[in-house]
Amino acid sequence: MQQPISAITAYDYPSARLCDEAGVQLILVGDSLGMVVAGCEDTTSVTLDHMVYHTEMVRRGVTKAVLVSDLPIDTYQTPEMTLESATRLMAAGADAVKLEGGFGQIAKLERLREAKIPVCAHIGMLPQRVKEEGGYKKKGKSEAEAEKLIESAALLEAAGAFAIVLESVVPEVAGAITERIDIPTIGIGAGSQCDGQIRVLHDVIGAYPWFVPPFATVYGNVSDVVKNSVEKYISDI
Ligand code: KIV
Repeated sequence: MQQPISAITAYDYPSARLCDEAGVQLILVGDSLGMVVAGCEDTTSVTLDHMVYHTEMVRRGVTKAVLVSDLPIDTYQTPEMTLESATRLMAAGADAVKLEGGFGQIAKLERLREAKIPVCAHIGMLPQRVKEEGGYKKKGKSEAEAEKLIESAALLEAAGAFAIVLESVVPEVAGAITERIDIPTIGIGAGSQCDGQIRVLHDVIGAYPWFVPPFATVYGNVSDVVKNSVEKYISDI
């Protein structure tokens, strides 16, 4: 079996540079920055200006990995609007953009393909729709939902996506999508049968102790390091 594609989020210069030096293959400037950087409840208050600013920071730290930047909510409502927003992220230094959604996004992907802007798709649980959904829910539990996910993945591939993030998808369905399409699937909370895995940096390094998603494995303890160091500093002066 091939080594899975490794992907992680980063939001600023030092974290991006450290992830790049560690050898991760894809760095996402995720709109999850609304939560783990800005402290908001969800990603729905992130704007294009925020994403441009953070993409510029991350670009300065990345020399090897592919840098993908998220199109935030309400910035890709029509194909032309998608192109305008994506063009700003590319000008800020992204190598590609990511957008959430399936069937409704096909014309937008086609417009980006015409403009030669690479796109990563994102299906399953869509954090930008968390309010309508009433929470973060597993996707693909029913046969109808599973079929819809498989079909939308195939259409997104045909429309030009170079990869698809599968978020909170039932592992067997993620496996079926991975088998069905030729572009890589990159899972988060979607089991091990994807071509790659993506995680939020703060979950991996233990930098956001107030909430850790159930599927996350925490490999570091940055929050303790920060607190202990600052406590030592305070007692030292
Ligand atoms: O915004 C983000 O961090 C993401 C990942 C969870 C895939 O979209």
